Amino acid sequence: MAETNTPQHPSGCPYAHPPLSAQTTPTGCPVSQRAADFDPFSDGYQQDPPDYVRWAREREPIFYNPALGYWVITRFDDIKAVFRDNITFSPSIALEKITPTGDEANAVLASYDYGMSRTLVNEDEPAHMPRRRLLMEPFTPPALAHHEPMVRRLAREYVDRFVNDGRADLVDQMLWEVPLTVALHFLGVPEEDMDTLRKYSIAHTVNTWGRPKPEEQVAVAHAVGNFWQFAGKVLAKMRENPEAGGWMPYGIRKQMEQPDVVPDSYLHSMMMAGIVAAHETTANATANALKLLLQHPDTWREICEDPSLIPGAVEECLRHNGSVAAWRRLVTQDTQVGGVDLPAGSKLLIVTSSANHDERHFSDADLFDIRRENSSDHLTFGFGSHQCMGKNLARMEMQIFIEELTRRLPHMRLAEQRFTYVPNTSFRGPEHLWVEWDPAQNPERAQPELLHKAPAPVRIGEPSRHTLHRTLQVSEAKPAAAGITRLRLSAPDGRELPRWTPGSHIDVECGDTGISRQYSLCGDPGDTRHYEIAVLREQEGRGGSEWMHQHAQAGTTLKIRGPRNHFAFDETASRALFVAGGIGITPVSAMARRAKALGIDYELHYSGASRRTMALLEELQALHGDRLKVYAKDEGQRNDLAALLATPQPGAQIYACGPARMIEALEKASAHWPQDALRVEHFVSNVGTLDPAKEHAFEVELKASGMVLPVRADQTLLSALRAANIDMESDCEEGLCGSCEVRVLGGEIDHRDLVLTRAEREAGGKMMSCCSRAKAGRLVVDL
Ligand code: FES
Repeated sequence: MAETNTPQHPSGCPYAHPPLSAQTTPTGCPVSQRAADFDPFSDGYQQDPPDYVRWAREREPIFYNPALGYWVITRFDDIKAVFRDNITFSPSIALEKITPTGDEANAVLASYDYGMSRTLVNEDEPAHMPRRRLLMEPFTPPALAHHEPMVRRLAREYVDRFVNDGRADLVDQMLWEVPLTVALHFLGVPEEDMDTLRKYSIAHTVNTWGRPKPEEQVAVAHAVGNFWQFAGKVLAKMRENPEAGGWMPYGIRKQMEQPDVVPDSYLHSMMMAGIVAAHETTANATANALKLLLQHPDTWREICEDPSLIPGAVEECLRHNGSVAAWRRLVTQDTQVGGVDLPAGSKLLIVTSSANHDERHFSDADLFDIRRENSSDHLTFGFGSHQCMGKNLARMEMQIFIEELTRRLPHMRLAEQRFTYVPNTSFRGPEHLWVEWDPAQNPERAQPELLHKAPAPVRIGEPSRHTLHRTLQVSEAKPAAAGITRLRLSAPDGRELPRWTPGSHIDVECGDTGISRQYSLCGDPGDTRHYEIAVLREQEGRGGSEWMHQHAQAGTTLKIRGPRNHFAFDETASRALFVAGGIGITPVSAMARRAKALGIDYELHYSGASRRTMALLEELQALHGDRLKVYAKDEGQRNDLAALLATPQPGAQIYACGPARMIEALEKASAHWPQDALRVEHFVSNVGTLDPAKEHAFEVELKASGMVLPVRADQTLLSALRAANIDMESDCEEGLCGSCEVRVLGGEIDHRDLVLTRAEREAGGKMMSCCSRAKAGRLVVDL
């Protein structure tokens, strides 16, 4: 049977999935053989969950596995939709034992008065959100910053212990114990019983997510019971001193203030769940990250040489090989996901690690790319109202561990080994991570001062796009017109560069001046080894172009970010009018080249002070012939925009880049054209500094997270969201780039960006959170 997207079964199954097994889903649909064979405890899943379910992601993204009794969901959009609706998809089974324990093990647990109840991870509304809000403050970036010195000190102490050995199991000798100690500090627990806790913690994982054999179940139950009792004792100790620091004393204080929101019985479960959540996931995530980085020696070398790349590397590791492979949800009412009927009572295994490799959301998803701009869209921390509260603590720890290891053991490599995992569906990290190095080569032996070097600053929160730079070399610099130099850039090792599309630009850092400038790419997008830019020397500028003209010579290395495209060319346009003024020719020239290659009907109108000052003129003439119209002011020529645009042309797009005066004139001249016919490249923002005296406060309702936040008059929406621990990407923070876009579900928007088109603004479905605000009252957003 051919694969198709038309319904194959009256129950609504949209996939054809031969060969079929003899089994059926609860909705009466036949189960494919591959779906029936799915086994999350098998070595295939343990070693590489996204690869193990690749077939499903591609052909049968939602399937039923009769052996588990679960529906398995594998695509990004479907999983995000499940996270978004925590009423239809209850988290109540998130910690349910996937393999029910036998009577004997249950009796053992009962003998310890084991009474683990729901916590933040698996409780339903309406109880959950008020608790989450009440207990959130210690997880916000300002509160977490206090823990940074403690994490750094611990990481250093542990590296000290093995740095001269030449070989170490990083899991055993560092990555298990340090996050555990950090977790204990964060919770406010005294540092004791480390080994016992470690054993209990593993047992807890197996108890909840694993498939212990009947004879193992009893031993696991004893360990879990002991863990429970230990947590109870520590809690009792902490109640005696509720003013102490840490999340648990904070919870105890909140319990006293609002016992209806945080009941007393809740604290014991919160304590135990907190230890597991803060410790194990971070230990596993760091082990996965180091394994991945060491398996990519070029990337390892890059982060050793430039630690500012570490935050981006951490995020990409969390995407590519995170420590939470899957979560579970219970369907509370008949519904559909991805076109598949899911009756009330269905259990879902949502394979987040598979979502993180979904090509529909992450281009070239299997590629490990620490400069990937949307890495932080990963679902390793979940999304919405149950997103991991400790995500920024985990990010901070991972950055510090990796920074310490890259600085002190840059010559470390993976030892020969086979990686093993504790069999379970959800939490995943290698049990051992053997690395080796030559201690004689330890940099600190030759340069002891390295040990006291100030560490690279840690980024608390989602990574900034500003850290995603790469170093390129100027391979050619030549004059392109009076006052304009044309630079050819390539990777120092000749490697291929990320592909770009016409209209893209790169950000170039001007040495150590702190200035960075954006330049449109003007070469051939098909040339994957070079980028080309043209730089106009601006006497009255802020110094960036001056620096470029003085310093960017053949052989110079430059740090760049991007390419990024905020001025994309619509390749489906039937006709294109390209209008450029002066140096604005750079993005437009790449578009015209593309239009020609695609056979699109186009004209290129290029104005300048004189031919002498107009870059790329010769090659444009050679390439475009009569389609190029040149207007040189000193020859008395002028582009009469009103005449050019007098008659609107259906299906035609106008792409323009040039001086502000030209853009204003174009906007006027095209006012009677269809909405969105004019597309403009902006490099200068008109968003001024926020003036609280002229602004008003408003509220924002986060639909998926179930929160309402105030946005003060002196605050942007972006900063209010970040302060509430919501991950938000941003780049320019001036309304130019579009990276901080938020989907808006309700409310009136006061748009202040230069990204959205007139039609997009009028539709009101999105806004740029770095600059745009509410006109009044409240905005409802999809976060
Ligand atoms: Fe660039 Fe908001 S961060 S538009």
